[in-house]
Amino acid sequence: MSEQTKSPFHINILTIFPEFFESPLSTGVIGKAIEKEIFSVECTDIRAFATDKHQTTDDLPYGGGAGMVMKPEPLVGALESARQNHGDLPRIYLTPQGEPFRQPLARKLAEGDGFILVCGRYEGIDARVREGWIDHEVSIGDFVLTGGEPAALIMLDAITRLLPGVLGNPESIVEESFSTDMLDYPHYTRPRSFRGMDVPEVLFSGHHAKIEQWRREQALKMTEQRRPELLKKDK
Ligand code: ADE
Repeated sequence: MSEQTKSPFHINILTIFPEFFESPLSTGVIGKAIEKEIFSVECTDIRAFATDKHQTTDDLPYGGGAGMVMKPEPLVGALESARQNHGDLPRIYLTPQGEPFRQPLARKLAEGDGFILVCGRYEGIDARVREGWIDHEVSIGDFVLTGGEPAALIMLDAITRLLPGVLGNPESIVEESFSTDMLDYPHYTRPRSFRGMDVPEVLFSGHHAKIEQWRREQALKMTEQRRPELLKKDK
């Protein structure tokens, strides 16, 4: 058994650019958590599953039109290999056509055993792969990236920080139950006065209930101004 399959939470990223993930996965909080084996990540090179001698992963679209489409054979080969190694982890394809990625989905995925992320390039992947080998499609926002890799990284970051032991201070996650229905309140640190701008007095009062109330008011004000739709019940 390899080092990577020992850890209970596992993420497998299928990509034609495995090197894209090298620096983010060895840096900061995520790098530390992987080092501590809180979760494991494997980047699978889709190209290694290409079936021709040129290791082709894309081809022209049937029916014509701009761009290239990712071929089914290498993708399905990589997906079947991931299934063999890691059982029935959910297979997620990253696409602007997917379900919007929000905090509740991050929480739900953090409660599982991990997932497989499929990163597309060009115009996307052959529709038959989506139909037969993908469980969920997820979008990180209403914009188009050059590929699924930055989206995969964003999902990985948002989900793994919720795993027990990843963040130093678990209270910051508890507090988020309100900061995802509302925007966050403003934060201050030393110095007390900076270029004529002072930290609000209430934060020096030592009165926890008052500070809590001030923070809620600030969060509410910020949300009303910037994201009023978050305050509607059936958003
Ligand atoms: N691939 C390209 N654009 C994307 C987006 N907005 N979300 C997820 N995957 C993508």
